Parts: sequence; structure tokens; C-alpha cells
Amino acid sequence: MKFFLDTANLDELKRGAAWGILDGVTTNPTLIAREGRPIEEQIRLICDIVDGDISAEVMALDAAAMVKEGRVLAAIHKNVVVKCPLTRDGIEATSILSKEGIRVNVTLCFSPAQALLAAKAGAHYISPFVGRLDDVGSDGMDLVRTIVAIYQNYGFGTQVLAASLRSPTHVVESALAGADVATMPLKVMEMLFEHPLTDKGLDQFLKDWAKVFNPAPKSR
Ligand code: G3P
Repeated sequence: MKFFLDTANLDELKRGAAWGILDGVTTNPTLIAREGRPIEEQIRLICDIVDGDISAEVMALDAAAMVKEGRVLAAIHKNVVVKCPLTRDGIEATSILSKEGIRVNVTLCFSPAQALLAAKAGAHYISPFVGRLDDVGSDGMDLVRTIVAIYQNYGFGTQVLAASLRSPTHVVESALAGADVATMPLKVMEMLFEHPLTDKGLDQFLKDWAKVFNPAPKSR
């Protein structure tokens, strides 16, 4: 399973990259806008930090303009994956870009039917939004499981990129479901490390070692 960070923040990406477990990055217009730089510039800076797939989203709404924008984004770096929304125009643009050899991540997927359309259009990734479905009372992880099953039935090459993950449980359930990628905020990646017994065990090891090899000076 690949781990992506869902952020455009360079400090967060440097921290995640240092652990050596980072396979790529997803961004969206909200995340890019938060950093205040033009998208081309921000994506270029991200490509300098992370050697893996970097999703950059088009802002246009009609297919022709999405294709134009997608070509510009793809030309930034060989690792850029163009993100298109799951609309009629987005699927049309995905078909065109994919035929040109430009990889597309189809985003804002909330149903298995939508995921089928993305696969048929030749998308490289499909991004089901788990947390946002949970937010409206649906079972987001069920969507990931269903898409994985459907894609396996037909051998679609589109990779399932579980997105809008909000907790370590989401990440583990995505892995159990067979998602190819989990993208998460740095906060969630940090949480994957945590276990109180790890901290407790390490503390005890250090104390036991110090008792023998570095005892506290005896008072007179
Ligand atoms: O990758 C999609 C992600 O950015 C959406 O996450 O938490 O805003 O639903 P969230």
C-alpha cells in the first residue's frame, strides 16, 4: 500500500519525507490556496521535496479548458498526476488526457457508479472521499470496499486512492479493503506511530539500562 500526504504545506512534506515512508502527495484547490502561491510554483516546490506521484487539480469546469489546464500541470514534472472532478466534463477530460498518456486522478468520488465511469475513462487513480461520506451519515469505507471489488471483477487498472481519511482506523480499514493508496493529513500520519505501550516500554528500557550503566551518584 502506498502512503500519500494530503497537504501542499512544504514543512509538513519535509517532515513526512524524512521518515522514508512517503510515496506521494495529493493536493486540492483548498490546500494550494492555503499556501498562497500560484499552483505551478507550489507544485514545483513539492516535486523538489517528494519523489512520487503529486496530484494537482484543474480549476476549469468545462472539458476543453480542463484538458488545456491538465496539459500545463502535467508539463511541470513527470511525477504530476492531473486531478479532475467527477463530472461529465471531468470524465470527458480524463478520457482525452489519459489517451495522451497523461495520468489522471479522478476526485470527488462518492459512489461506485462514479468509480466505474472513472475506470472506463482510463483514470490512473480514483479518489473516494471516505470522511466526507461519514460526515453525512453514510459508510465511507463501504464505498472503498465496493470499488475495490468492482475493479477486481473486471481487472481495471485504475488504482483506488482512499481520500478524506481522518484517523488511523480509516488508514487501517483502507488497507484491509485493498485500497492501493491511502492519502492522509500529516496529523493522521503522525498518529500512526502512536501507542502508549511503545512509550512505556522504551521508558522502562532506558531506566533499566541506566540503573546498571549510568547509576545516579550516591549521596554522602
Ligand atoms: O484528499 C481529499 C481531501 O483533501 C479531503 O479531505 O478532510 O477535507 O474531507 P477532507
